[in-house]
Order: sequence, then C-alpha cells, then structure tokens
Amino acid sequence: PTSDMAIICRKGCQSVRKYREQKERRLAQEKFELGGTKLGNILGIKRRDQKDDQSEDIDYKKSQKFAEHMQEKTDAVSEFARKRTLDEQRKFLPIYAIREDLLKIIRENSIIICVGETGSGKTTQMTQYLHESGYTKRGMIGCTQPRRVAAMSVAKRVSEEMQCKLGDEVGYAIRFEDCTSDKTLIKYMTDGILLRESLTDPDLDHYSAVIMDEAHERSLNTDVLFGLLREVVSRRQDLKLIVTSATMDADKFSDFFGNVPIFIIPGRTFPVEPFFSKACVEDYVDAAVKQSIQIHLGAGDGDILVFMPGQEDIEVTCEVIKERLNDLEGAKPLSILPIYSQLPSDLQAKIFQKADDGIRKCVVATNIAETSLTVDGIMYVVDSGYCKLKVYNPRIGMDALQIYPVSQANANQRMGRAGRTGPGQCFRLYTERNYREEMLKTNVPEIQRTNLANVVLLLKSLGIQDLLQFHFMDPPPQDNLMNSMYQLWILGALDNTGSLTQLGRQMVEFPLDPALSQMLITSVEMGCSSEILIIVSMLSVPSIFFRPKGKEEESDAKREKFQVAESDHLTFLHVYIQWKKSGYSNNWCSDHFIHVKAMRKVREVRQQLKDIMDSQKLDVKSCGNWDIVRKCICAAYFHQAARLKGIGEYVNLRTGMPCHLHPTSALFGCGFTPDYIVYHELIMTTKEYMQCVTCVDGHWLAELGPMFFSLKDSLKTRSERARKETSEKLTMEEEMRLAQEKLNRMKEEA
Ligand code: CDP
Ligand code: MG
Repeated sequence: PTSDMAIICRKGCQSVRKYREQKERRLAQEKFELGGTKLGNILGIKRRDQKDDQSEDIDYKKSQKFAEHMQEKTDAVSEFARKRTLDEQRKFLPIYAIREDLLKIIRENSIIICVGETGSGKTTQMTQYLHESGYTKRGMIGCTQPRRVAAMSVAKRVSEEMQCKLGDEVGYAIRFEDCTSDKTLIKYMTDGILLRESLTDPDLDHYSAVIMDEAHERSLNTDVLFGLLREVVSRRQDLKLIVTSATMDADKFSDFFGNVPIFIIPGRTFPVEPFFSKACVEDYVDAAVKQSIQIHLGAGDGDILVFMPGQEDIEVTCEVIKERLNDLEGAKPLSILPIYSQLPSDLQAKIFQKADDGIRKCVVATNIAETSLTVDGIMYVVDSGYCKLKVYNPRIGMDALQIYPVSQANANQRMGRAGRTGPGQCFRLYTERNYREEMLKTNVPEIQRTNLANVVLLLKSLGIQDLLQFHFMDPPPQDNLMNSMYQLWILGALDNTGSLTQLGRQMVEFPLDPALSQMLITSVEMGCSSEILIIVSMLSVPSIFFRPKGKEEESDAKREKFQVAESDHLTFLHVYIQWKKSGYSNNWCSDHFIHVKAMRKVREVRQQLKDIMDSQKLDVKSCGNWDIVRKCICAAYFHQAARLKGIGEYVNLRTGMPCHLHPTSALFGCGFTPDYIVYHELIMTTKEYMQCVTCVDGHWLAELGPMFFSLKDSLKTRSERARKETSEKLTMEEEMRLAQEKLNRMKEEA
C-alpha cells in the first residue's frame, strides 16, 4: 500500500491561537443562529459509537475505591447475621451437594472440565473449596474471567463470604489495577492478566490451581491461555487446571486437553417458554420498551431482564421505559436498573439487591448478564437478539466494534436466565425464522475474528517462533495472522524474518496496544516522553469529558476552551497539564465538566507506565515543543493517515476510503483544515469516523512511513503503485519463507 503524496506546504499550526479565536467566533455565530450547540449535532450518530463494553479499556469508574466502597457495605450489616445468611446461601447452591465428588475428581486429575448452569456456584465456590481443602498452602488459586466487571464483583462477593477485606485473602487484578496483597490466596483476574503473568512466570509457579472460568466465551486471551496452559500442566504435575464451560463446548474442550474428564454439576432449572416476534422488528429499543411495559403491567410476579447490545442502547431503553411509565396513570412502580461494564460500581451493585417490597425489578444489560453475572429472581427475559462484537474488518484493515445478531447459543443462554427461580418466559424480538436460518449455531471465537497483533507479540516474546504451529483449539485464519505480523513489522516490532526486534521486545513490557507502546518508546528518542506518557495514559481511560443533561451548552463551551486546534492528542495533554497546575484539584474537574475519577485513573495509569519505563531505563523527559510531540504521534500512527478531500472529509491514505472528522474532535468545524492527519481509531456508525486526530506534516509521513509513502511523482499511475505494492509484499514473503526454511533446517539438524 504505497501512496504518492503531494507534499503541499502546510499552513496553520504556527498560529493555534488564531484558529481558536476564529473557531470561537464561528461557534458563537452558530449558536446565535441555531440556538443550539455544536455538540448537539452528534446526537444523531451517538447511538452506536459508544465505547465497547468488553474492550480492554480500564474501567476507572468501578475500580475507584471499589474495595473501600464494598467494605463499608459489608461492615454495615451485623457480622453474625450476615455470616449465617451467607453460609446458608452457600449451602443452598447446587455445587454444594457435589462438593466432595468435585474435590475428589480434582485430586485425581490434573485437568478437568466443569459444566454447570449459571448460578450453580462455580465461580464463587470452587475457589473456596480448593482453599478449604488445603490447595492454598502450595500457592494461590487463580480464577480467570473474560470480563473485568465479573472479576471485581465476584471477588467482592467471595471476600464477603470469607469475611475478609477485599484485597487481603481474596483479591482481584485487572489491567492497571491490582487489588491483591501478600496475603492473597484467592485471586480473581481477567484472562489478559494471567496471560501477561505467564511472560514473567512461564510455569505459573505462584499458583497451585487455575480455574479458567467462562471458557465458553472463547475470548482471545482465553484461547491463547488454552494453548499455553496445556503445556504448563504437562511440565508441572502439581498444578490443577479447571476449565468451566457451558454444556455444548465441553466435549471439544475435553478433547483439546487430551480427553480429560468432564464433571457435571446437576442443575436446578425450570422450563422457560420462548415467544418469537411475529414480524421483523424494526427498532429493537422500541420493541424492548413496549415488551417490558407489557410484562410489567400484565404479568405476574418476577423480575425482568432485558438484553441490549451496548451501553447507549441500555441508557435509552431505561430512559424511555421510565418516561412511558410516568405517562401511564396508576402504573405500579418499577425499579429500572442498567448494567454494563462502564457503569459505576455502586450502581452495579444495585442489580444484586432486592428491590423494596412489591416493586418489580427491570434489569437492562449487555451480554454481561448472559453468564458472568447472576441476578436472582428473573422470571422474564426480553432479548433484542443483538450484541456488540469486535470484528476484524479487512476493508479498513483493523478491528471495528459493531452490532451483530447473537448466535443461537447466546440466545438460549439468555433465555435460560428466566428459569432460575421458577418457570419463566422469554420474549425474543426476532422471528423464529431469523433464529433458525440467520443466526449462527455458536459464536465465532474471538481469535478467528480479531486483530492478533498483541497476541503475536506476546507469543513471539515467549519464544514461539512459528505461530502457525502453535496449538490453538481453533487456529486463527492464516490471513489474520499474517496481517497482524505485517502490522507489527510496520511498527518495527518484527524484522523481515518475523523475529522480534529490540523495539518489539521493549513493547511487550507495556500493557498497551502495540502502536501505543511503540509511540511511548519512540518518544524517548525524540525527547518528548513526558508529554507522550500523559497522552498515552489519557487514551487508556474512557472519555474524560462529560456533558450533563440541561447543561450541554455550558459543558461544550468549557470543552472548547481546552481544544488545541491541531490535535485531539494535544487537547488531552493540555487538559492534563491544566489539571496538574490546579494541584490535581477535584473542584477544577467539576468546574470544567471533566470526570474526576477518570482523571485520577489517568494519573494512576501514568504512574504505572512510568514505573515500567523506569525499569526499562527509558528516560521520561519533556521537550516543551508540541510540534515534536505531534511528530512522535505521527511516528506511531503514520499507517493511519488521511488526506483532506473536502470540508471535514478526508480519504484514508492506505485504503482510499472516505473518512470523516468526528464532531467531538478539536479539528471539527474549527475552520482549520490541515491537509494531512493521523487518527487513533476508526469508528463505524452511519459513516466512518476518525476518532482522536492529529494534524501532521506531509513530509513526516514520507520520512516515518517510507513503506507507504514517498514524495510526489516518484510513482505516477495506479497500476505502477499496485505493482510496487505487490513486489514489496512478495519480497517480504520471500524473506520470511527463507527464514522459515532456515528454521526448519535447523530443527531437522537438531
Ligand atoms: O459461576 P456460577 O454461574 O455457577 O455461579 P456463581 O457466580 O458462583 O454464583 C452463585 C450465587 O452467588 C448466585 O446465584 C448469586 O446468588 C450469588 N452471587 C452474588 O450474590 N453476587 C455476586 N457478585 C456473584 C454471585
Ligand atoms: Mg460463573
């Protein structure tokens, strides 16, 4: 993918202030004319471009003071009364009845697959059983979860059951947040954390047992861990591995690990009656609202669980249900509770609490409530039939988060949630034909649909040279692997033979996406690591700006003040520096409509990344020159560059695809339209939007991304470019083939 780029003298940038003034004038004018706000325009596109609920972004809201918050709650209740009820609850769980059999089979086998209905007690009890029967004398019990929320909420629950402070005997770890201590015996964590731990502790010697929970979700990290743990167990006879799974995958898992036993926890479930929609549903939010209200007004006792694809839809659904019920005279009260991974922890905890007497609960959730979290008392399920998935999109050459129909397996899992306490009903907002003919039987595992750059980097650094030979349960498509390797090659993490470079080795140390770790390391050379460190930390946290209802204009105005016309990245830097100047003040944040907790998290992330830099002997230095900072951003993101085509419209330099400035961007509608920009990510909604954009100098692109860009006129025609592209690719493939042959020869000789 080469592009001949016209290098045109860049205007602007020298006079940021001028542009800001222009922009302010223009905005004032616009507000005067329309009586509205600039950001108000985004509402139309907002519905589907929210951050992924499952993405690995850290979750500042929940994590902040999570432990303390939960502890307070625990302390509030009389300890004795609480212990008795919790003990009773533990003994009532289906898993309790087969406790001894389970422990016996674990004693007799290194690996087992454990199958049981959601809510049978696998996640909260198995760790405790292992602890109670002495396994923690030899090492920790680790339990992995594909989702951060589950890791935290389950750890909290187990710490209550064991009557200890969260973080002491029972703790959790998620990216950028370690709530464990020397005392920790039971550790809940995301699968990504265990994967990273295997880098420094390849035999997982800290653990006497590992439970890979929710393995049927087949998250990317779980799949990689499968391959690694299979080997670890063969090296370490004393390690116990327990893989929990939904029924349908058990045989496959058992085969993969060498025909290991499958242990089934007898469940207690009630029949659930499915109802399909008669005609295709046009707006699933609207349909879900109607259905929920109908249940609430007409049906007998029992709580409602509504499945929605993501946060934005959940918020809208909750709001509309509330509104419509308000309009209905004499309707009984309904407690409407959203749940998604970005929700603050205190609100999350609400879904587990019993509503006041006689009040029905309506929980509106993402697929987080499919298996990871159990809400008791649900009798009615309303299923939109959609979920959000990260899927590699070959057209744009990267992952895109989009809404997809769920699989039949998901649909059935969702339905099952209504049959835990008694017979239930499930209202599917899709037709029976949709279900039979259009839905996949099971999910496509993440490893087969996403970008693998991080995984490749990790496996390479574990010394796995030939990834095609790695023992994957379902190998990723070869194209995906090659593509990810190509991406790493572009970033300089792999050499032409596919081996890890010095830069690549350093990149592995950072729990970041490859481009971000590359940017951080490059910034050291360029002398602007202090600035880039802040920018990277800001990018690792969900949105810092907030826009409360009724104060849209005021918050937009405040936000505009921070904007650096040439870069969203620099805007972030600007915000952080101002906050630092205020003495990291909370009031300053609230005054400027900035999430306090988000900023505190940024500061924590920054410190953690800085610690890694220190340990890697990477200097943290400031250059004070923001043009150099932009150049450094360009050095990591030159492969995501675009050229100006029309007002607010750009074309991607590699794919030729049109893409647009996001309305929240500092560059949007500011009157300053740079010729070349790089972007952090693409969001597909109604259009392709570039999120987080920085204006760059055309020459930089040619200098930093010579594999894509050269100065104008070196190659004139399309076909010539295509030829050059093909020949470059062939050369690289040939080099890699030769390297492979050499490797094979070496293996044979050995
Ligand atoms: O893992 P599995 O789905 O088999 O069950 P679990 O997560 O261990 O949950 C067992 C029970 O613990 C649930 O039915 C809930 O009553 C309770 N629980 C809770 O109250 N709060 C949590 N965060 C997790 C579980
Ligand atoms: Mg569980």
